[in-house]
Amino acid sequence: MARSGKVSVIGAGFYGSTTAMRLAEYDIFDTVVLTDVIEGKPEGLALDLNQSRWVEGFETTVVGQTTGPNGEGYEAIAGSEIVVITAGLPRRPRRSRMDLIETNARIMRAVAENIAVHAPEAVVINVANPLDEMTALAQIVTGFPHHRVIGQAGMLDTARFTHFVAEKLGVPVASVTTLTLGSHGDTMVPVASACAVDGKPLSDLLSADEIEELVVRTRNGGAEVVALLKTGSAYYAPSAAAARMAKAVHEDSGAVMPVCAWVDGEYGLTGAYLGVEAELGREGIRRVVETPLTDAEKALLVEAYEAVKTKQADVTDL
Ligand code: APR
Repeated sequence: MARSGKVSVIGAGFYGSTTAMRLAEYDIFDTVVLTDVIEGKPEGLALDLNQSRWVEGFETTVVGQTTGPNGEGYEAIAGSEIVVITAGLPRRPRRSRMDLIETNARIMRAVAENIAVHAPEAVVINVANPLDEMTALAQIVTGFPHHRVIGQAGMLDTARFTHFVAEKLGVPVASVTTLTLGSHGDTMVPVASACAVDGKPLSDLLSADEIEELVVRTRNGGAEVVALLKTGSAYYAPSAAAARMAKAVHEDSGAVMPVCAWVDGEYGLTGAYLGVEAELGREGIRRVVETPLTDAEKALLVEAYEAVKTKQADVTDL
């Protein structure tokens, strides 16, 4: 595919810089813009990434831009078809994603207002935590239609689940299919009925207890990494997930992925951002796909919906 368009990544921390790197290495965009409020950080990282182009063999140009408290520098994202929001504090050991809510909401408001002004046609992919609430806030502040504001979590949680299954069975990750829906947190719904290895149901290969163990590890996947790192949270798998979503939007591919999307009647649920499978294209979410679920999984999804809906009801006050 020919190179075209611009994608912007807000926040040049670990998550943002690795996302920018992956997007640049795809070599499908003309430009990747990386911004941050720390003077010189995005420019320095952009220079470094550009110097890797010859070795890695990509032509996409990375542009770094420091932004100021009054939106200075945001002209750099003008014309972006996609904006990935990674600005915000990461988790710390023994602290939940919810502990970040006030600070990250303040950052989100500032970022989203500038996106609305400078990239009004963009599809927004939010990764800042707490994920479901920050995605809802991004939509409210930008005023963009719901289909153009998406959160990244399901791809990451599914990638983690897949890794754990592959590791447990000693098989290639490519032979494993898993799925997680619900929220990016306590009410995550790993969908065991959709899991298979080379088409064989996971329940034929592992006992219910063994599957439950992997489910629990998946649900705590972020915390496990945070506890090991001690400062900061995961970014390799998260950036891989976010970059894949941006690629699907850019290529208008129609790929079906687990993402945080606005539900409007699917599964009988309405009016909240929830982890569901959705078809991605140029307009963001083309449609939410209703995955067949067992009664127990459906009940867990409803539980997740109720939890995120309650939390999202208050985000306008943040
Ligand atoms: N605009 C742009 N960048 C900002 C802003 C802002 N208003 N406020 C903070 N930042 C930048 C910080 O300067 C920092 O460089 O966001 C970056 C965050 O980087 P890290 O601290 O390395 O955090 P990271 O691991 O990248 O996580 C970012 O993703 O997974 C989530 O919970 C995580 O919400 C967090 C986000």
